Amino acid sequence: MNNTNVIKNYGNKMDKIITVEAKPNIAFVKYWGKRDLKLNLPKNSSISMTLSNATLDGEPFKTVTSLVFSDKLNEDEFYLNGKKIDTSNKDEAKGFWIIDYIRNIAGDKRHVMLVSNNSFPTSNGLASSASGLAAMAYATVKALDLDISDKELSTIARMGSGSASRSIYGGIVLWHKGEKEDGSDSYSEPIKISPYWNDLVDLICITNSTKKKVSSTAGMQTTVQTSEFYKMRPDYAEKNIKEIMKALEENNFNSFADIIMKDSNNMHATMIDSKPPIIYINDISRDIINSIEELNKREGKNIAAYTLDAGPNPHIIVKKENIKKVEDAIKDIEGIEKILKVQISETGCRLLGDEESLIKEDGLKLIPK
Ligand code: DP6
Repeated sequence: MNNTNVIKNYGNKMDKIITVEAKPNIAFVKYWGKRDLKLNLPKNSSISMTLSNATLDGEPFKTVTSLVFSDKLNEDEFYLNGKKIDTSNKDEAKGFWIIDYIRNIAGDKRHVMLVSNNSFPTSNGLASSASGLAAMAYATVKALDLDISDKELSTIARMGSGSASRSIYGGIVLWHKGEKEDGSDSYSEPIKISPYWNDLVDLICITNSTKKKVSSTAGMQTTVQTSEFYKMRPDYAEKNIKEIMKALEENNFNSFADIIMKDSNNMHATMIDSKPPIIYINDISRDIINSIEELNKREGKNIAAYTLDAGPNPHIIVKKENIKKVEDAIKDIEGIEKILKVQISETGCRLLGDEESLIKEDGLKLIPK
């Protein structure tokens, strides 16, 4: 028996408790808009970096998920951050249907218990669907012993939440938009990068820790349906992908940062052009954007890049040696609750040992810890 699985034999059935870790990612060229709502097929390709499982200050920054398929369960059970989730509630149990999808492939009829905790520093309003759905897909595939490639796994995670397809891997990851209707060519893969990029850090500036008002899923739909300006976005994003790949290849931080900032601003412009306008940026995020623009101007080149997802918390992408300069540049901005410093992660989803399991067996019962 290997140390990652608890295997118990009841009659001829095996219950295997699998525990995995996944991390969020931050997109450099963003995904905003779907060509297929059910399969989460994007209008454009996107590129991101996977974040480390702990901040530079040592706080955990990851999703841990345990999962078991068992005849001892009378129904599917899902516990998220200590709360029991109604698995038929599509918002709360976002993407849970991918378990059924995988269960069908495996021809397994047993119910599942899934326990997932996001160990991000307290209530910071960070999106967790990327790491949560990547962990769910990965753990399910492992628990059912399916022999599928990471590429296929990334397409399954994508069906749960688009950005989750990128969290399967560590490092810098490209999600190909694909062309096919069945989504089989809309997968992610890691990009080979030189050690020059190994010291990338994301300084996540928490400016508002409450839950976002418009979810990404709903927001991008409104933008696609109502924004005239959005029509130019897919082609523009594809151009940004080509340029950022070139910047990565040439170890050109200046150009890399330029594309990140332009792409984020472009995405937010399409959001504001929506009806009703979707405005995620707040006054503090705007002050941070301005400070980074000024810092780069003083330096005579880009040493830092801001980027914002569907929320008001700017991520500042910087090489480790320049963290101090960024901190000095934003230190007088009022309202920054906290700055989380998170490095690029070498690893994507990975199995954890039994000692990290969130499910315990008590006699013939399975109990969330
Ligand atoms: C702005 O992946 O959360 O963070 O596919 O509907 O689950 P769904 O959307 P989601 O959207 C992420 C949007 C973004 C940009 C990005 O991460 O690329």
